[in-house]
Amino acid sequence: MSQQTLVLIKPDAVARGLVGEVLSRLERKGLTIEAMRLRTMDGELADAHYADHVEKPFYPPLKEFMTSGPLVSLIVSGDEAIAIVRLLAGATDGRKAAPGTIRGDLSSSNRENLIHASDSEDSAKREIGLWFPDRG
Ligand code: CMP
Repeated sequence: MSQQTLVLIKPDAVARGLVGEVLSRLERKGLTIEAMRLRTMDGELADAHYADHVEKPFYPPLKEFMTSGPLVSLIVSGDEAIAIVRLLAGATDGRKAAPGTIRGDLSSSNRENLIHASDSEDSAKREIGLWFPDRG
């Protein structure tokens, strides 16, 4: 089933010059970039995007990191796009993510893990609405 998912190429990836690498992996898999924008997340958007995490102990440093500089927001589409992008991303913790995945190959951090990808159809709908209000 064709799906849309929200992808963030996080500030660590932008700072490290890995935007092209991440985009390339998505494109080579056969996914389609429907929308793409470079922007810096503000605190309000961070709180909305991470509504499920705002009470967690790791949230303050996560918010600091995610608002620290520009990131790239994307709508990506394709057959089973939500699950496929999560597979390409790998496990949250870059130290434990499998080699061959974006995080497994390129991140050694649980926080600075290069990419965010919606985890369900409901999240994708909610997150696309937050990041691309004209496309939600
Ligand atoms: P993301 O897919 O954007 O969703 C929540 C983010 O919180 C996650 O990627 C990591 O960047 C971060 N995160 C999740 N768990 C932890 C943790 N235990 N410690 C630090 N950061 C975390």
